Amino acid sequence: MSNYHIKHLEEYYQVYRKSIREPENFWEEIAEEHFMWQNKWNNILSWDFSKPEIKWFEGAKLNITENCIDRHLTTRGNKTAILFEPNNPKEPSEHITYNQLSKRVNRFANVLKNQGIKKGDRVCIYLPMIPELAISVLACARIGAIHSVVFAGFSATALSTRINDSDCKMVITSDGSYRGAKTINLKGIVDEALDSCPNVNSVLVAKRIQSEINMVEGRDHWLQPLLDEGSDICEAEIMDAEDPLFILYTSGSTGKPKGMVHTTAGYMVYTAYTFKNVFQYKEDDIYWCTADIGWITGHSYIVYGPLANGATTVMFEGVPSYPDFGRFWEIVEKHKINQFYTAPTAIRALAKQGLEVVEKHDLSSLKVLGSVGEPINEEAWHWYNDNIGKKKSPIVDTWWQTETGGIMITPIPFVTPTKPTYATLPFIGIQPALMDEQGEEIKGNQVSGRLCVKFPWPSMARTIWGNHQRYKDTYFSAFENKYFTGDGALRDEVGYYRITGRVDDVIIVSGHNLGTAPIEDAVNEHPAVAESAIVGFPHDVKGNALYGYVILKDVGETRKHNNLRKEINQIITEHIGPIAKLDKIQFTEGLPKTRSGKIMRRILRKIAHNDTSNLGDTSTLLNPEVVQSIIDGHKNDE
Ligand code: PRX
Repeated sequence: MSNYHIKHLEEYYQVYRKSIREPENFWEEIAEEHFMWQNKWNNILSWDFSKPEIKWFEGAKLNITENCIDRHLTTRGNKTAILFEPNNPKEPSEHITYNQLSKRVNRFANVLKNQGIKKGDRVCIYLPMIPELAISVLACARIGAIHSVVFAGFSATALSTRINDSDCKMVITSDGSYRGAKTINLKGIVDEALDSCPNVNSVLVAKRIQSEINMVEGRDHWLQPLLDEGSDICEAEIMDAEDPLFILYTSGSTGKPKGMVHTTAGYMVYTAYTFKNVFQYKEDDIYWCTADIGWITGHSYIVYGPLANGATTVMFEGVPSYPDFGRFWEIVEKHKINQFYTAPTAIRALAKQGLEVVEKHDLSSLKVLGSVGEPINEEAWHWYNDNIGKKKSPIVDTWWQTETGGIMITPIPFVTPTKPTYATLPFIGIQPALMDEQGEEIKGNQVSGRLCVKFPWPSMARTIWGNHQRYKDTYFSAFENKYFTGDGALRDEVGYYRITGRVDDVIIVSGHNLGTAPIEDAVNEHPAVAESAIVGFPHDVKGNALYGYVILKDVGETRKHNNLRKEINQIITEHIGPIAKLDKIQFTEGLPKTRSGKIMRRILRKIAHNDTSNLGDTSTLLNPEVVQSIIDGHKNDE
């Protein structure tokens, strides 16, 4: 038996050592015993980080949906696969069994085929958290089409950029979506996006809010009639281990978003194995991850990882605050949730509401609590531990990234003793390294540095769609022969890791990765703006919020600054989405620059943090005098 399910600390260390000493044997055993293959591999791993090129299970043939659905049908056909909880608590929840999921995925796959979608084609999915989202993801995988899910909170411009970057042929959307008490006109956003996407020739539209929408003749089709026509049997396309499974966009510190490409076999093996262990999932458990499938967390730990284990996975359409701030806890009670996985920003927002809404609900079903997306501060950790877990449900603070595909550093519950704010130990097979700025690895404990990974793991992204050079430059060039995460971390006296935050120009706001450059580009689109620089500053709910320093073209601009602030945020909403709006905008006459013209963000960050006591040496700046005026302006704005 391979070590598929780790149950105590000694076993963790033993399995971890094996996974490092003999990674190929280790992963081969896991792959061999726990998955369904049409053909086994010729080679388990080949890799070269200098190119970079990484291949796992080369030569193997499989379809991930056979692993996530078909193989469960004999033993778990009537078990709930997806438990859908709608936005409105008065609407009934929906239990989709593995048998039903199989039929619905196959039907959907036949619709895709009938619309001319073939293996390797890219399909953009822009849907709210309704069952069709998971089903369309799986339907793409069934026929070997590459899905590119775009979070349905992104704007038309952001959507069209992503559609065009990977040349999607089709968009799957809905008439609209519910978000708490609001509705959002998703189809309208798609229509606007498609004005600049000439290669999209079909749009499938699911009905959700029954709104009147515009349907373009010949291009747009209501989904349901097509599903009704189709057969519920669709043979799975046989895929190579390294065929792309999906593209998912993530922000870079510069330039356009990066379409991270994940491939099939390694991604499947790693997400399934991590899911089983990190959540200690047992057969009858009900597991709930509150993320949206528009992010990697939803891909790996709502859809693929849980379903590959035959789990029951909850999909929640709504928001934590509707109809009131007790919604999460009401759902935990209603469905007797056993594993609950959410983001620190949600925990902080809910902690602010007081305990009354928590105490109304029976949370005794909970066994494991998870956290993901950003560092969890000590206060939020304790609130979560004391009031939700009642000190009996371990918190797994899981560190990972869109690029890593699966969880990388995490406690294993009931195995690894937890420590607030620490992601603790590397998961099986993961070899982290802390590097100094000279490129040397920092060995030993009680040290900090830049977090890298020095050996491949099965679910790492293989490239950036259409731009392999950028993949190399971003992740494999800072440190030779290592994957660079962009994060800083420290290792304590026992070897536990704590992630200290990004060391590049990516800012994590409410758990969402935002690159500063694209937001600055949007701000600079405003006709009155000459230049801008954006930095993060601490925010008690969002973790970080955005602070924009803006130089106006006409310094004597007579219009009201508050109107300009609104207009700037409106442009950001249109270009990226409301998540990237600036919390503070300071108008300034200059920005501190080096002699080569680079903005000194370090100084701007310190001012935004109200930490002006030690700005370091500013005398080498091109314009040192500007620093004081920015400090004065900041104080006046306070
Ligand atoms: O900075 C780290 C932070 O989120 C980044 C990855 O963001 P994204 O690709 O959107 O994926 C988020 C969900 C996996 C990381 O580089 N991050 C993620 N998890 C943690 C974290 N920071 C601290 N602690 C975590 N548990």
